[in-house]
Amino acid sequence: MLSATVLTRRDELVAALDAARERGARVGLVPTMGALHGGHLSLVRRAAAENTTVAVTVYVNPLQFGDPGDLERYPRDLDRDVEMASAAGADLVFAPEAEQMWPEPPATSVHVTGLSERWEGEVRPGHFDGVATIVTKLLGLAGRCLAYFGEKDFQQLAVVRRLVTDLSLPVGIVGCPVVRYPDGLALSSRNAHLSAEERAVAPRLYAALLAGRRAVEDDAVTDPGEVDGAMAAVLASEPRFSTDYAAVVRPDDLSPAAVVAGQVRLLAAVRLGDVRLVDNLPATSPHPEAARSRSEDG
Ligand code: PAF
Repeated sequence: MLSATVLTRRDELVAALDAARERGARVGLVPTMGALHGGHLSLVRRAAAENTTVAVTVYVNPLQFGDPGDLERYPRDLDRDVEMASAAGADLVFAPEAEQMWPEPPATSVHVTGLSERWEGEVRPGHFDGVATIVTKLLGLAGRCLAYFGEKDFQQLAVVRRLVTDLSLPVGIVGCPVVRYPDGLALSSRNAHLSAEERAVAPRLYAALLAGRRAVEDDAVTDPGEVDGAMAAVLASEPRFSTDYAAVVRPDDLSPAAVVAGQVRLLAAVRLGDVRLVDNLPATSPHPEAARSRSEDG
């Protein structure tokens, strides 16, 4: 297996991707914070299937961490990441030091109004500004490309889509499905911090989302409070969970659904010991979308 070329300087990344495009390559970009797992690798594989040059970025972005302890203990192992990314089809791994990314502390911050403030944004103030700022910078360095993000962080994906649209960046955003263990827990770098007992109960979060989906799809519930309640009941049945939110939302702007109709998204987040688990699931109501618009108009 050929190992991906590791680049650490911004100008190297720009030059490598410009040269690839000049050769006629189609560039795929997979932004990550390293600690790669099967979820990331599904993005790299998809990028490799749809592009001719794939760059994976590995940068633990301090701007998106509110808690310095959380930043400190974020798992880091570049050699392992390079090996895994290469095996999944990456040609380049961009792994800059913080001083390389920001020779001076940035005076600019990218803020996506509305979307950034709810759900995760409420629990982690400033988090999405940090994400939006680094993603804008990485997309700026990468240039014309397709960029791949997991639906696991569904709100992050919505924030990224919105900033790319608003700023007319020459990048296509590709959202990729959540990868789960057989028991339903979504793959996440943070799972490494769960104790054996916590790991055993963690899939209850997925069970709660499934309960929400049953309410939407099988019971045809139209009252969002009832769907939220179905999820909250499952979460409350696990005493180790402390629920941050469980809500049925509109999939585009993640605003709370006024009436459950058409396509919706179920979002939930809990604290389990020192770890926050965040997950989501799509659901399709048997009530057509028009019912939602009528209700909102009226
Ligand atoms: O999803 C992540 O790993 C990060 O939030 C991202 C998009 C790489 C920005 O640092």
